[in-house]
Amino acid sequence: MTENGSPEEGLSRRGFLTWAIAGLGAFIAAALGATGTGYFISPAFGKREEDWVDLGLAKGFKQNEPLKVDFVERKRDAWATVERRSSAWVVTPNGREFVAFNPRCTHLGCPYRWSSEKKEFLCPCHTAVFDIDGRVVSGPPPRPLDRFPTKVVGGRLLIQPAASKEAA
Ligand code: FES
Repeated sequence: MTENGSPEEGLSRRGFLTWAIAGLGAFIAAALGATGTGYFISPAFGKREEDWVDLGLAKGFKQNEPLKVDFVERKRDAWATVERRSSAWVVTPNGREFVAFNPRCTHLGCPYRWSSEKKEFLCPCHTAVFDIDGRVVSGPPPRPLDRFPTKVVGGRLLIQPAASKEAA
């Protein structure tokens, strides 16, 4: 009802209020839905900066002297973060470019070591030999050593253990 009592205007005002309340409800539902959806799917699609692991100052690595570096790898599985100890063999030919080898032999996964006398990586399990670039010199491994992606940021060497891949 209006001041002058017209039933059409009263109905119009009631209709407007009904639509306004419905609109407000829809807006609140959409806002909550977007927030909730983002919360639930963001672990699957969010940026994963934590996948990069800091191995220390890049200038701390000597040229052509492979160094085994231990680190803690953090893997996020949906909402849980799992930590595990791991390592990488880091090689730099010039102090600017870096290679980080997966520490597992590409035959059956045994850990191998660097021999500074022979200048080769040696796997004790089935006597495989790899050169400093990870190429198979002898033994049963079907491919060169796998590598972790590397990058230098702010003078620090970072690797991405979750993205270990075969040499190109
Ligand atoms: S696991 Fe390394 S040679 Fe077999």
